[in-house]
Amino acid sequence: MRYQNEIPIQSTAGNRPMKRHHTARYYAHRVKESLTTRVSKLICAIFLALLFLVGIITFVLWLSLRPHRPRFHVREFTIPGLGQENGFVNAQIIFNVTARNSNQNVGFYYDTIQMTVNYQDQSIGGETLALPFYQEPKNTKILAGILGGDSLKVTADRWGQFVADRSRGAVVFSIEFSSSIRFKISTWESKRHRIRATCPVAVGVDGLILATYKDKKCQVYFI
Ligand SMILES: *[C@@H]1O[C@H](CO)[C@@H](O)[C@H](O)[C@H]1NC(C)=O
Repeated sequence: MRYQNEIPIQSTAGNRPMKRHHTARYYAHRVKESLTTRVSKLICAIFLALLFLVGIITFVLWLSLRPHRPRFHVREFTIPGLGQENGFVNAQIIFNVTARNSNQNVGFYYDTIQMTVNYQDQSIGGETLALPFYQEPKNTKILAGILGGDSLKVTADRWGQFVADRSRGAVVFSIEFSSSIRFKISTWESKRHRIRATCPVAVGVDGLILATYKDKKCQVYFI
């Protein structure tokens, strides 16, 4: 009961002196103050709008210029002599992989591409493929060849493993490409980035690539 009486008394007492001191100068000051806040609000709004516009332009530019990484696909992978018991003597691997630049405006400068074929995470052969070359936008480069002789090292033991895998239906390999790449946008060129593509492949009883691995996209990453 006591509190309820006290609160209104205090608040009216607090308001009264303030009202008495509102002079003309006070109101002039208030008007001036609200003008400056208005102007600064306007400047703020213009600034934010500009920032927004710049953001949108940057985003659109980034969308149209941002480089897509190269796309590698396995087209062919064949071991012709897989059915032969002493096939390791003249072992060969025939391969065909495509490397595509799917960008509209971005070109690729490739350094030499090193290709390796792995079996159970160990290299069994490989070769240096394309010399340094420039790949235009919307272009596909064919990386194809035949490994054999010095570029394919298959021991009798290893061949025995292939034959054992073959009798179970598939011999699994992985092809790896490594290179470094520079991006070209108009006249600007980026620095070098190390790039690696890994393509799992498997051949069937006939030594030909299994359908599930044909035209499969390789994993491409920067290192
Ligand atoms: C490699 O594969 C591509 C795409 O299937 C084909 O166009 C090209 O002729 C093949 N090249 C070789 C040498 O086999």
